Amino acid sequence: MKTILTGVKPTGVPHIGNYFGAIKPAIDSTNELRGAKSYLFIADYHALTTVKSAAEMNQYVREIACTWLACGLDIKKTVFYRQSDVPQIFELSTILTNVTPKGLMNRAHAYKAIVQAAIDRGVDPDVDVNMGLFTYPILMSADILAFDTDLVPVGRDQQQHVEITVDIAKAFNAVYGGSDDKKILTIPQPKIEKSVATIPGLDGRKMSKSYGNQIPLFANSNDLKKCIMRITTDSTAPTDPKPTDHPLFEMYKLFANPSEIEFMTNKFANGVGWGDVKTELFRVADRTITPMRERFEYYMNNYELVEKILADGAKSARKKATETLSRVRLAIGAL
Ligand code: ADP
Ligand code: TRP
Repeated sequence: MKTILTGVKPTGVPHIGNYFGAIKPAIDSTNELRGAKSYLFIADYHALTTVKSAAEMNQYVREIACTWLACGLDIKKTVFYRQSDVPQIFELSTILTNVTPKGLMNRAHAYKAIVQAAIDRGVDPDVDVNMGLFTYPILMSADILAFDTDLVPVGRDQQQHVEITVDIAKAFNAVYGGSDDKKILTIPQPKIEKSVATIPGLDGRKMSKSYGNQIPLFANSNDLKKCIMRITTDSTAPTDPKPTDHPLFEMYKLFANPSEIEFMTNKFANGVGWGDVKTELFRVADRTITPMRERFEYYMNNYELVEKILADGAKSARKKATETLSRVRLAIGAL
């Protein structure tokens, strides 16, 4: 039976780009799994590199947990837990530091980008680097290896981290052995999601928190409408045909059903006012989001239910991680 595992960092209220680019594809793929074991966790200790306040961390974890449940994560099919509830991960991480060459960390893209940014500013290259950031890939390797993971569904930006995990697992197995068919650590593989569309933001660039052009996934209907009305358009006349590669049309396609899309395609070809397109986009977006928003609010207001779900998930995660750790501790002479 294959094991699939992925993690999400709690870093703020998700937007529509996160939903269509990451959350929905992950939930759809776990719902399609047959006979595989699936783990999904909130990587709160990874978020420590940037989130420096307890209140913020708690809020982000709550929001992300409620978001995944509201978006349809099926906890009967997926073990859902908070990373910090599984101390075995951190024990494994400490052990793995000893088979990880420093050079491997020096080559990690995220670290290199931060060093380069400092060099470009003419300051000490390490000024923005703490050891949590530097060793981030080791903690991520422990997340993955503690569960004998076979497949790690991630976006392209995380592919290198999974490749580093493979290198670390092989280095560990090379030192501590195990027979060829039963190595101590299971070698995982990245599963790069088929390229999901890049969802445009209000100004037509990629929707991103860093550009401030996002539509929050759970904005209330009024705010959602206001956001949609702010999407940039040009001043062509309502009677002019419109190009269907416009961000408004792309966003419409995410929410509308096939016959609505066909209808809108004709309108774009024959001329339509941007205001009408926005009104129609709001209608279909609100229709999709409202039930999810209601579930989100329900979970946020009844957070003890979510805590129970996460506690059950963590219990089952600890059981599995403890088994792996026993193998590892035996191998290194700590048992
Ligand atoms: P942001 O750019 O807003 O900070 P993150 O980098 O936290 O978003 O992204 C979290 C997940 O959501 C990633 O898997 C990322 O690929 C996906 N994602 C973010 N923005 C978009 C977008 N505009 N279109 C598609 N997927 C996106
Ligand atoms: N680093 C990932 C991100 O920034 C989150 C993450 C942490 C993760 N541990 C993981 C993803 C293990 C997959 C597997 O998105």
